[in-house]
Amino acid sequence: MKRDILQSELKKRNLPNLFQMPDGQVIQTKEEWENKARLYWREVLLKEEYGQVPSLITPKIALETKAIDFAGKAKWETVSFTFEKNGNTHVIPTQLIFPKNKTNIPFFIYINFRKDIPDRYLPVEEIIDNGFGIFTVCYEDITTDNADFSNGLAGLFQQGERQGSDAGKIVYWSYMLSRMMDYLLTRSEVDKDRISVAGHSRLGKTSLLTGALDERFAFVCSNNSGCSGVALARSRSEGAESIRDICRQFSYWFCPNYTKYIDKENAMPFDQHCLLSLVAPRKACVGTAIEDIWCDNLNQFLNCVESSKAWLLYGKKGLKAPNRLPICGDEFLEGDVYFHLRKGTHYHSRTDWLIYMKAIKEQV
Ligand code: GCU
Repeated sequence: MKRDILQSELKKRNLPNLFQMPDGQVIQTKEEWENKARLYWREVLLKEEYGQVPSLITPKIALETKAIDFAGKAKWETVSFTFEKNGNTHVIPTQLIFPKNKTNIPFFIYINFRKDIPDRYLPVEEIIDNGFGIFTVCYEDITTDNADFSNGLAGLFQQGERQGSDAGKIVYWSYMLSRMMDYLLTRSEVDKDRISVAGHSRLGKTSLLTGALDERFAFVCSNNSGCSGVALARSRSEGAESIRDICRQFSYWFCPNYTKYIDKENAMPFDQHCLLSLVAPRKACVGTAIEDIWCDNLNQFLNCVESSKAWLLYGKKGLKAPNRLPICGDEFLEGDVYFHLRKGTHYHSRTDWLIYMKAIKEQV
């Protein structure tokens, strides 16, 4: 019998069992998964890795219609969100761009590194031409990408020095994406069953967390997210980022508790499959690039294989892929967990966008 290479790779990693609960219960049905395991993993991940989600503030929305743009094909509006807490306010501008004279438009909520429209990671015209709308925000307009928690949304919530499970910056960025979802659901142009959340790299970690926690997103696109994103932390590939590496420079992305696991991956009560599996039974779209060694392509792929068990509970397929390690050019779009491994380097490429859009368009 052919040796199951993927299962033997997974065995080496000795991952926590998604279905084994600390009180001894073994989850067997989707109801048990939803009522118990989902809540359990969510709690563990927020407490030990990302930090607690701040309480809901309903922002005030102001709309400004900018123009018909992109060769007359699209409408472009600026939507600003004003958050107020204890007399302090913070305003976040977002951009809403969608094909004009169209209804039932599938949308991406996209968190980007820059404000530019279009941007090298965000080929707006091509996205419009494919029939999609974009609702985008620049991440540092939410709160800055550094250890200063006194500005932006972080500044409204964080009091004094962060401790234990106080939210890291990824949680604040993600919080805003859910507020954008609240708003998008009020717009008549939108196909509410086809709203995706997407981001790249640190923002791919952010889009994954958002989609895992917020079940209103039908598609969760996590591009080149790597360590503390889709990549499993245990037995990482050579040259890939570790928890020590990420915490050295970016510990503020996470809650202070996460640093406990530096060089102690095997002692973690979770791994990143506990996060990806929370996307079930919706669609998870994982994209990565062959030259992106830091992202750990093998451990991202193995996560897709392992997390698929949550989809199986729903009678769904999870990842549909051959029983071999991934190779450059792979594009597995038949299941509920999509995976592609493209040529090239760490980047949110047009190629990635075209694959995500193709996968989403096939779901009517
Ligand atoms: C660094 C970091 C990664 C992150 C990336 C990015 O390389 O180590 O974890 O994904 O920055 O966001 O660009």
